[in-house]
Amino acid sequence: MKTISEIRADFPILNRTIHNRPLIYFDNGATSQTPTSVIETIVHYYTYQNANIHRGVHTLSQEATDAYEQARQKLQRHFNARKSSEIIFTAGTTHGINLVANGYAALMKEGDEVIISASEHHSNIVPWQLACERSGAILKVIPMNEQGIWDMQVYRELLKERTRVVCVQHVSNALGNIHPIAEIIAQAHRVGAVVLVDGAQAAPHLQPDVQALDVDFYAVSAHKMYGPTGVGILYGKEELLLQLPPYQGGGDMIKQVQFEKSTYADLPYKFEAGTPNICGGIAFGAAIDYIHSLGIEAIAAHEHQLLAYAIEKLQTIEGIILYGNPNLTQRTAVISFNLQGVHPYDVGVILDQLGIAVRTGHHCAQPIMDFYQIPGTVRASFAVYNTFEEIDTFVEAVKKAQSMLS
Ligand code: ALA
Repeated sequence: MKTISEIRADFPILNRTIHNRPLIYFDNGATSQTPTSVIETIVHYYTYQNANIHRGVHTLSQEATDAYEQARQKLQRHFNARKSSEIIFTAGTTHGINLVANGYAALMKEGDEVIISASEHHSNIVPWQLACERSGAILKVIPMNEQGIWDMQVYRELLKERTRVVCVQHVSNALGNIHPIAEIIAQAHRVGAVVLVDGAQAAPHLQPDVQALDVDFYAVSAHKMYGPTGVGILYGKEELLLQLPPYQGGGDMIKQVQFEKSTYADLPYKFEAGTPNICGGIAFGAAIDYIHSLGIEAIAAHEHQLLAYAIEKLQTIEGIILYGNPNLTQRTAVISFNLQGVHPYDVGVILDQLGIAVRTGHHCAQPIMDFYQIPGTVRASFAVYNTFEEIDTFVEAVKKAQSMLS
């Protein structure tokens, strides 16, 4: 693996200063930064390859099509899907979840049941509420404890013959907890339910193998994996994708269009209406190459060392409240915390003045904040380019914020 200095040199934005201080970027849960290889892929595409795909016989269109389809194959290999046609390009995780929820809204009947968890991101709650409203299905929730750990006993009790879909996150964006999704999937399959996993916060740090997990649908976003915004993929088992109705109608997703009736294209194009984010898909492939060049295990090992180091140092601050699973082997490098009697937003503003980017607020997971009866948390989330020295500066900055605010 490259040294940390070499890795940091791959990310030009890390040379920036914010309020005359070196940028410390600890908001990787919201979006990761982009390496030069991905930026150059984007520039190369618009400089030399830009054309619409699947449409022209001309050379440029064929080159763009080849590059886009090669990226799909990279993603297939990365997630170990059986076929590249099981990889649907989307605008991101939210789009992937909505695609599946919309499909099941049409397939479910009144009285069917959908299970989500208490720690879901809004993007894995609201689409299922809409699907339940449309179909008459009932939404059930796996409860969590103080540490954000799901109650698997209650989960087993919730699973019924009428359970059609279980939709859960692999890793909590607000707490960093890695959930036992292999068990979730195995139990759901016993009652014949399908499982959609929101992998947005897992895929940058773990190596999800969709066949080993036997997961039915797995959705991710490129921009949390060193790729660009506005693109992601939905993996779906072929037999299930075939059963789902199209999500959007338009060009490229059809075989024949007549006013009486249209027929749909084969997978994956049935779910890819309109001109897609071609450059984004190709750049997602370049981001996967970048991850492979470092090795996901090496990325995860570095991030875990940062997590353990940061937690140990933060724990020495009197009045700090840390959320999430205290067993750090069950966590990605996300730290959600509050300072007693201080609003998280105020901490975020002071950290920003000191050049440190964190996310504050409910992290699009309001039910978690309701559970803890807090307005939100301060969240620091690490990536492969973060350093122990940055954590030292961050801890001192948190202490400074505490002395200014309390
Ligand atoms: N879902 C992203 C986050 O957790 C935006 O910050």
